Amino acid sequence: MDSIVIEGGVPLRGEIQIHGAKNAALLLQCAALLAQGTTTLRHVPLLSDVRTMNRLLTHLGCRVEGERTLAIDTSGVAEGPLSAPYELVKTMRASVTVMGPLLARYGRARVSLPGGCAIGARPIDQHLKGLAALGAEIELDHGYVVARAKRLTGANFVFDKVTVGGTQNVMMAATLARGTTVLENAAREPEVQELAIVLNKMGARIRGAGTSVIEIEGVDELHPVDHAILPDRIEAGTYAVAAIITGGDVLLRDAPVDHMHAVLAKLEEAGAELRVEPAGLRVRSSGTLRPIDVSTRPHPGFPTDMQAQIMVLASCAPGRSVISETIFENRFMHVPELLRMGADVTVNGSTAVVRGPTRYLGTTVMATDLRASASLVLAGLVAEGRTEIRRVYHLDRGYEAVERKLAPLGARITRYHDARA
Ligand code: EPZ
Repeated sequence: MDSIVIEGGVPLRGEIQIHGAKNAALLLQCAALLAQGTTTLRHVPLLSDVRTMNRLLTHLGCRVEGERTLAIDTSGVAEGPLSAPYELVKTMRASVTVMGPLLARYGRARVSLPGGCAIGARPIDQHLKGLAALGAEIELDHGYVVARAKRLTGANFVFDKVTVGGTQNVMMAATLARGTTVLENAAREPEVQELAIVLNKMGARIRGAGTSVIEIEGVDELHPVDHAILPDRIEAGTYAVAAIITGGDVLLRDAPVDHMHAVLAKLEEAGAELRVEPAGLRVRSSGTLRPIDVSTRPHPGFPTDMQAQIMVLASCAPGRSVISETIFENRFMHVPELLRMGADVTVNGSTAVVRGPTRYLGTTVMATDLRASASLVLAGLVAEGRTEIRRVYHLDRGYEAVERKLAPLGARITRYHDARA
């Protein structure tokens, strides 16, 4: 397993190219199943999660070619068993969002229940309830969801709670249903909006994506598209924190500023200087950091995927910051590792009290989940001495070549393959 070693203390200067959004790419890979023929996705991030989704699409009978530009040919899908096996779903839970497209297009799907993950139980009850509302017959069979539908029928459905994947799964299914579907209490994330934009390019009739009420008028078929994926707001937010805490000056090329208002507001509150430029977002520290209170919320609130990263920023500021995680029940896995590097964080249920400024000291730490590992990289960038982060496969799920993006800005960062851990 790879590890990454960082010698901290260098202000980052230069520019970073922000790549396509992971959480858009994965869903657009699923959406390709809704059309017969070859869908082309561009600006695809080179991530292990994207490769896992490609393995699933291939397993389903697709022919997948390319990496940054991905061509997904669905011509060979109809005959297959249309199952998403445990080994793949366990690796990447976003696999469950093939269910909606398979049901809509082929009338059947057999998808492993994802099980929990490091950050929480993450059930899919809302996905299943929404698909059942469209007329799908759903049954559980030895850890698998078996879903069938001759043809889905449009319906009105209110989510019991806001779910990004649930909204996307049911929205995709509704595109080929007979009649109109209205989803209420829908997720408003930019990746939901991006999916609706692409589905409409494929011939769907969706209105209201980005609000909590989405209306989908069913059509008979969708056609393949060629689409360039929007940049990753979480990757951009992560590197913005790196620029601020190292006292650097970084241009985040193509950063999707319009989808980052909550994050940018908090960064400015914490003492960042932000400037929107034609090429992207320029980020530097004002030299004085201030404590901040953050509560994660569904979009357009502060994203849970930036919680671990903003905690490191807060820990670098003098004073007391309070961070509440309201989306997932176990998303403070980064705290024990940050404590080992010298942070002062007290967790009480879903709230963490952070006291700073922290004098981070390098040591060996273990990555546990995607965004937790990003926070360890951030702490390593400001720590005195050498930080070794082990099990960076967690990081590689959502961040493309971190060491290659940071080294040109002055970071002393090296990846070791097949490290000891
Ligand atoms: C998406 O996960 C993202 N993943 C996550 O990003 C992100 O953290 C999350 O949305 C919240 O923004 C992808 O887009 C691939 P949810 P998703 O359904 O769709 C509960 C990352 O770091 N829930 O919005 O799985 C669930 O347990 C990843 O890039 C139900 O109870 O998240 C959670 O507490 C991590 N029943 C809350 O809702 C359901 O049927 C939000 O989950 C579905 C969800």
